[in-house]
Amino acid sequence: MIEVKELSKTYNDRLAIDKISFSVGKGEILGFLGPNGAGKSTTMKILSGFMAASSGAAIVNGHDVGKSPIPAKASIGYLPENPPVYMNMDVESYLTFAARLHGVEKAQAKMAVQNAMEKCGIADVRRRLIGNLSKGYRQRVGLAQAIAHNPPVLILDEPTVGLDPRQIIEIRNLIQSLGGNHTVILSTHILPEVQATCSRVVVIDRGRVIAQDTLSGIASRMQANVRLTVTVREDPSRAQIESLPGVLSVTRTEKEGEHLLLIETSKGRDIRSDVAEYCVQNKLGLLSITRESLSLEDAFVRLINQEPEEQK
Ligand SMILES: Nc1ncnc2c1ncn2[C@@H]1O[C@H](COP(=O)(O)OP(=O)(O)O)[C@@H](O)[C@H]1O
Ligand SMILES: [Mg+2]
Repeated sequence: MIEVKELSKTYNDRLAIDKISFSVGKGEILGFLGPNGAGKSTTMKILSGFMAASSGAAIVNGHDVGKSPIPAKASIGYLPENPPVYMNMDVESYLTFAARLHGVEKAQAKMAVQNAMEKCGIADVRRRLIGNLSKGYRQRVGLAQAIAHNPPVLILDEPTVGLDPRQIIEIRNLIQSLGGNHTVILSTHILPEVQATCSRVVVIDRGRVIAQDTLSGIASRMQANVRLTVTVREDPSRAQIESLPGVLSVTRTEKEGEHLLLIETSKGRDIRSDVAEYCVQNKLGLLSITRESLSLEDAFVRLINQEPEEQK
């Protein structure tokens, strides 16, 4: 449904995004995750035809956004970082105006706006001025504006920024309910957002895609070099734990009369039973073994932190 090919954008001389490629299948909710300044908004502006790319292409619903912007844009609902909601218009007038701009015929506009307001839970504030609504409600108006012309694709740039925790949950539920009927790309700089709403994630940092996978895939991929903490009673300084298969490095420390071994092990191997056997055979007085597995949050931090090393 969405195909992004080597998209790059330079502002003046500054490269904001660098050959970004990814694709999104029909009905999928894709999380576009990255720290501030990573290039999320830049990518989304290009995808929604709001800004031209310096090079590369984005195909949305079969249309090249750069070459055929009109049919491409008709397929897209876009919620920008700062939604352009007019403070002195009432909700229904604004949504009707937005739907007409998106090419909805006058005769259909009333129905389209009614549907969008119901989906977004704002039918009861239809006559209120947008300027008098809370931030959470304004965000719903922004979402209603994005879905009123019933586009197959939704591009939502940080849809829950600035909302309170209850509003965040409501907006996330709303976005989830839109998946399936719509293909959604949602950008965020916070991981829990992705975990709450998305099935797949593209991680970007400093303008480059550094990972794309399912949530569990990213977590397990990042479980490289799992660490074991082994506590033994006897001094293990002469033990040859390094020689066990799967051991990358061993650090020995002492704590409260007990000896700790921090063992880095290679990806995908669980060598706890080998380590236990070794300790027993060598009469080290094994007290405990714990395995440290990475949370997705750790995985994300590692992904971003390891990036400069890969460039070396
Ligand atoms: N209009 C602009 N002119 C110059 N630089 C920009 C402009 N917009 C964004 N940038 C720069 O491009 C980079 C990516 O920005 P942006 O796409 O807004 O990131 P994100 O949305 O992930 O926070 C940042 O370094 C930002 O400072
Ligand atoms: Mg942004």
